[in-house]
Amino acid sequence: MAWGRRGHRTRLVEIQGGRIDSRTIQVVSMVKGVPMKRLLSLLLVGAVMGLMLPGMVWGEDNCLECHKKESPGMVNDWSLSKHAANDVTCSTCHGDAHKTAADYLKAKLPDESVCAECHEEQFESFSKGKHNFGWTVLNAIPGTHFAPDELIEGGRGCGGCHNMGIKSEAQKKEQLDKGYRYQTNSCDECHTRHTFFKKEAQNPRACQQCHMGYDHPQWEMWSSSKHGERYFAKLAGDLPDGASAPTCQHCHLQNGTHENKTAWGFLGVRLPLPEDPQAAADRVTILKALGVLVPETGEPFEPILNAVKAVDMARLDEASWQKERDKMLNTCSECHSTEYAKEQLEAGDAILTKADRLMAEAIEIVAGLYADGIIKKPESYPFNYPFILALMHTNGANWDENLQDLSYIDQVLLQMYFKHRMRAYQAFFHVNPDYAYWYGWNMMTEDLGEIIELDKSMRAQHAMKK
Ligand code: HEC
Ligand code: HEC
Ligand code: HEC
Ligand code: HEC
Ligand code: HEC
Ligand code: HEC
Ligand code: HEC
Ligand code: HEC
Repeated sequence: MAWGRRGHRTRLVEIQGGRIDSRTIQVVSMVKGVPMKRLLSLLLVGAVMGLMLPGMVWGEDNCLECHKKESPGMVNDWSLSKHAANDVTCSTCHGDAHKTAADYLKAKLPDESVCAECHEEQFESFSKGKHNFGWTVLNAIPGTHFAPDELIEGGRGCGGCHNMGIKSEAQKKEQLDKGYRYQTNSCDECHTRHTFFKKEAQNPRACQQCHMGYDHPQWEMWSSSKHGERYFAKLAGDLPDGASAPTCQHCHLQNGTHENKTAWGFLGVRLPLPEDPQAAADRVTILKALGVLVPETGEPFEPILNAVKAVDMARLDEASWQKERDKMLNTCSECHSTEYAKEQLEAGDAILTKADRLMAEAIEIVAGLYADGIIKKPESYPFNYPFILALMHTNGANWDENLQDLSYIDQVLLQMYFKHRMRAYQAFFHVNPDYAYWYGWNMMTEDLGEIIELDKSMRAQHAMKK
């Protein structure tokens, strides 16, 4: 509603005599995706305002006047946006309760529902995708709560990337109670404020800040693959404009959708178990270390399984995995032969199975140290078993108390899982030879070597203590 009222005040002031003329109609018809009801009420309100209030001093001008001095860069960005051209103004998004320098805390920081007033389609689509779970997933991980708040609510760490997802009232309150009031909106993560450009979000750079680094170097993998190379060659004019070069958006946000999801997901585990007995046993071992299965019995551990389900962290039946795979295969087939693409994707699945053999071997060695009492079960762990979701806070070590209790062999295990296993298989899907071998597979074998060695020395030390 805000747009209908405030937006058109300024516009109408410009229109002689305050009457709605063809120019107003033209502006209105330009607004794609704004529901008809809104347009009608806007015309009506506009007509009334136009008749009543020509020449009045507008609150909106105050925002601009003052912020031109306070934050000129921001006003400039806004003035370049389609919002400015369509009279979506400061107060449309921030309200008009704040009027002076002193009362700026009264300005509303708009969440996604404000954008949804005019962009319902993108909002609905976003709500169905994995991005909508970013914040909830973050908070569901035990390791998160050992990190300083600055890195989470403060948004310069896990929270800087996981500020994706519509926050519940309870989540907002928790954040405010901790003294953090920004990061209320996910929509400005790809089209940044206050330009809010569509083109910026179509650029793969828009994904880079988050999809890079330790456990998900998709930017590095894609940009140094032939797919990325061709994109940059096109940018430089070394390939013609029409040449094909798939971007992140091309493969993951097809046809303007805001709903993103992959077949394997981040954890690289799924159900049903594979048919091959060794591969099935290895998957089970990994699921135990994730806390999804009870190590002693192999039965599902409901608290963690339910959390995984609630945020769609893994595909738990064949059909939901196949659905995402088919979508992707269709995309590859726009440029490659289907058989070619199928083979490439299946090679990714196969290397994941082989990586899991190494991974399971490593988990079993560390689990042996727990079973033999050489590593003591930390209170915060669900089982007497290595626990991957502790992140590097192995041994349940708390940030401000007992970092000296960290278990190093567990850390090597987590590095093997989060850093090297991720690279080994994600690189196949992103067509990157170096990440697949040297940064991925090769490093997994090195981790395993270190774990074998540490196991020996820990056992020897333990025997000497007795
Ligand atoms: C008299 C000057 C003035 C006017 C008028 C004004 N602002 Fe501000 N605004 C400020 C100052 C000063 C700050 C705080 C800047 C800072 O922290 O450096 C601020 C901060 C803000 C913030 C950030 C709030 C936060 O929590 O950090 C928003 C949003 C904002 N203004 C929007 C508006 C809107 C919308 C209007 C018009 C309805 C408006 N401003 C009118 C001076 C003004
Ligand atoms: C389309 C909606 C929209 C419009 C229009 C808009 N803003 Fe914002 N603004 C946002 C969002 C979203 C944020 C980020 C909120 C957060 O992170 O919690 C924000 C944040 C801010 C902040 C605080 C963050 C910072 O970077 O300093 C200020 C100040 C601000 N806006 C001022 C303005 C002013 C002045 C205008 C008009 C020239 C304006 N905004 C127009 C959506 C909008
Ligand atoms: C009051 C209505 C309104 C609100 C609220 C609103 N927008 Fe818009 N937005 C528009 C209109 C109108 C356009 C221009 C549509 C067009 O030209 O097709 C637009 C265009 C856009 C575009 C496309 C720009 C381009 O380069 O083509 C993006 C992205 C966008 N808005 C994001 C947002 C986000 C994010 C928010 C919330 C922070 C938001 N909008 C809030 C009305 C609104
Ligand atoms: C540089 C940005 C960034 C930082 C920092 C970051 N993450 Fe992530 N995280 C991501 C991205 C991107 C994904 C999705 C990657 C993928 O699927 O390959 C992700 C995925 C996850 C997932 C899996 C989500 C799912 O549903 O599959 C968890 C859990 C997670 N992160 C936890 C954390 C925790 C805990 C921290 C801090 C200790 C953290 N992340 C820090 C960007 C980040
Ligand atoms: C992960 C990145 C990402 C996020 C987060 C994101 N968008 Fe977008 N958005 C895009 C991309 C990419 C496009 C361009 C789609 C295309 O090619 O047509 C786009 C396009 C748009 C457009 C222009 C539609 C058109 O065709 O004119 C609007 C409006 C928009 N987004 C609104 C939103 C809103 C509202 C949110 C938050 C609910 C949001 N976006 C969050 C990536 C994102
Ligand atoms: C602000 C950080 C951020 C930006 C920018 C961002 N993402 Fe993400 N992305 C995440 C996080 C965090 C997750 C994991 C969400 C979850 O927990 O479900 C994720 C998940 C994903 C997934 C789902 C992976 C899975 O588990 O199935 C895909 C695909 C994805 N992002 C693609 C993109 C693309 C393409 C862009 C750029 C247009 C982009 N993202 C921009 C943070 C970001
Ligand atoms: C040529 C198509 C293609 C391009 C381009 C592409 N990806 Fe992917 N991406 C894939 C495939 C295939 C998978 C694996 C899907 C599956 O699970 O079967 C994948 C998986 C992912 C995942 C989930 C990883 C995981 O842990 O399982 C994320 C996140 C992601 N891609 C982000 C990106 C980002 C960001 C970019 C750009 C820097 C990008 N992708 C470029 C095809 C692509
Ligand atoms: C928009 C078109 C396009 C899409 C979509 C696309 N690719 Fe490509 N791909 C190319 C082009 C062009 C090359 C460069 C061919 C060459 O190296 O001569 C390439 C190269 C490759 C290569 C390396 C070939 C080599 O000879 O080294 C592989 C593997 C590959 N793509 C797999 C995939 C997979 C898997 C998908 C889907 C997830 C996919 N591609 C989607 C256009 C595309």
